[in-house]
Amino acid sequence: MSDVIILGIESSCDETSISIVKNGSEEIATTVATQMDTHAHYGGVVPEIASRMHTECITLVLEDVLKKANMQVSDVDAIAVTYAPGLLGSLLVGVEFAKVLSFVYKKPLIATHHIAGHIYANNLVKKMEFPLLALVVSGGHTELVVMKGDYDFEVLGTTLDDAIGECYDKVARVLGLPYPGGPNVEKYAKQGKPTYKLPIPMNNEELNFSYSGLKSAVINLAHNELQRGQELNKYDLASSFQEIAVDELVRKTRLALSKTGIKRLIVAGGVSANGYLRSEIGRLCEELNVDLSIPPLKYCTDNATMIACAAYPQYLKGDFSDLSLKAKSQEYFFEQKVE
Ligand code: KG4
Ligand code: ZN
Repeated sequence: MSDVIILGIESSCDETSISIVKNGSEEIATTVATQMDTHAHYGGVVPEIASRMHTECITLVLEDVLKKANMQVSDVDAIAVTYAPGLLGSLLVGVEFAKVLSFVYKKPLIATHHIAGHIYANNLVKKMEFPLLALVVSGGHTELVVMKGDYDFEVLGTTLDDAIGECYDKVARVLGLPYPGGPNVEKYAKQGKPTYKLPIPMNNEELNFSYSGLKSAVINLAHNELQRGQELNKYDLASSFQEIAVDELVRKTRLALSKTGIKRLIVAGGVSANGYLRSEIGRLCEELNVDLSIPPLKYCTDNATMIACAAYPQYLKGDFSDLSLKAKSQEYFFEQKVE
C-alpha cells in the first residue's frame, strides 16, 4: 500500500498546531503556536482571547508547516481536525479551517476526537499492539481502558467525579500557583516532602477513581492553616497531594493489569507529562514485566501530530466527515460498557 500523508489540525484549547504525518506514525513536520504566556496573565485560558489568537495565527501556522515539510496542501491525502472536546470558539477555528482546506483541495475530511489523539500519540514511539491497557489521564479523563484493536475500547474504570488533571489544576489554584496548573504543582512537589496527611481516594479493589475527596481535603487544609494564621508549606502540600494522586493511578493500573493479564500498557493525556507518574509507572511495568509506552514529553501536551496519528486508522476505515461537521465542546470519547 502506498504511503498515507495526513495533515492534522489541533486548536481545542490554547495551542494552534498543524502537523503533517506519514502512515499515522512518522512526523514529517509540525508547528505549534502556543498562547500560554498570554493566558498566564489571567491565571487561566480566556476563551474569547484563545479563539481570536487561533484565528490570527492559523494560516501562518499552515504556511510554516508546509515550508518545513517542503510540501503543498495538494500533496496530502486527507485533512484531520480535532472536533471535540474543548473550548467551542477555539475548536470552531480549526474545524472551519479544515473544512475550507478539504473543500478547496478536494481532500477527505476526518473528524478526530482529542482524546483519540492523546492515545494514538503512542504510535510515534512504536506501533501499538493489541490487546493493551491504556491509562488515560487528562484534564477531563481518568480512565483505564482495554484496547483490543484500533478504536476498540472497553472502559474498566473511570472517575466518579473529578478528573486527575482537573484536580491538579484546582490544587494549583488553591496554592496560588500560576497557570498552567499541573506542571507548576509538579515543580513545587519536586521541592517538597509529602508531610501533610491527606485521605487516600477509593481505597478498595475497584477500578474506578474518585478525586473529589482528595481535592476537598487539600482545599480545607489550606483554608484551616490560613485561619489558624499558620504558614502553609506549598512545596510540601504539593508533594503530599501528588504522591497520593499518582500512587492511586499506579495502584489501580496494577490492579487492572493483574485482573486482565494484559502485558502492554500505554499512558495518554496531558498528565502523562508528569515526571513522578512517568517514573512510578515505569517502575511498576519493570516489576511486572509489562511493555510500557508513554509518548515523549513534547507529544503529551496538545499537538496536531497526535491528531494526524489518530486519524490514520479512521482514514483506512474510510471514516470521513462532510462539510456539515460541527465542533463540540463536550463529547465523551469512550463507549461505556454497562455491566
Ligand atoms: O490531556 P489534556 O490536554 O487535557 C484534556 O485534553 O482534557 O491535559 C491537560 C491537563 C491539565 O489539567 C494539566 O494541568 C495537566 O494535563 N498536566 C499535568 C502536567 N502537564 C499537564 N498534570 C500534572 N503534571 C504535569 N506535568
Ligand atoms: Zn489535550
